[in-house]
Amino acid sequence: MNIRNLKSSEEYPLDLLLLADPSEEIVKEYIKRGECFIAEENNFVVGVYVLLPTRPETVELVNIAVNEEFQNKGIGRQLVKDAIKQAHSKGYKTIEVGTGNSSIGQLALYQKCGFRIVGIDKDFFIRHYSEPIFENNIQCQDMIRLSQDL
Ligand code: COA
Repeated sequence: MNIRNLKSSEEYPLDLLLLADPSEEIVKEYIKRGECFIAEENNFVVGVYVLLPTRPETVELVNIAVNEEFQNKGIGRQLVKDAIKQAHSKGYKTIEVGTGNSSIGQLALYQKCGFRIVGIDKDFFIRHYSEPIFENNIQCQDMIRLSQDL
């Protein structure tokens, strides 16, 4: 598997990006402001993530997603590790990530990759999404904020 920066002439893998965030509007905004990376296997895009500069020296990992047929094979972990490496090599001092209170697997993945929980943005998903979101039979209401020093 090869992970690389998406060229400006290339099309964004929108279907994959929408796996991580159901709002096309929010995804398009992230893409405009951030840098998109893709993971390829035999020229087929199996994963994606976006690095979004937020504050001086801080970047946020957003829209990480792996094609459903390729999940649970370690690609997500490789993408998170690559994002950390990219952020470090670009000189950022902190990498952040946010996920839903109901995203149990994602919370496990980020903590396995060195992120620590630093806060909760209460009712984030109620405020920003028109439809209720459920995962693991839990309503997704709050955003759990995680961070890692680089
Ligand atoms: N409890 C404990 N650990 C769990 C878990 C759970 N419920 N669910 C997943 N994990 C662990 C796995 O065991 C694995 O750990 P390991 O490397 O020690 O074995 C790790 O999390 C990640 O597994 P991996 O195979 O690398 O992940 P993946 O390729 O399936 O990708 C996502 C993970 C989240 C990117 C993928 O599921 C996805 O695209 N989901 C939809 C989009 C999404 O939710 N994006 C994130 C938005 S915040």
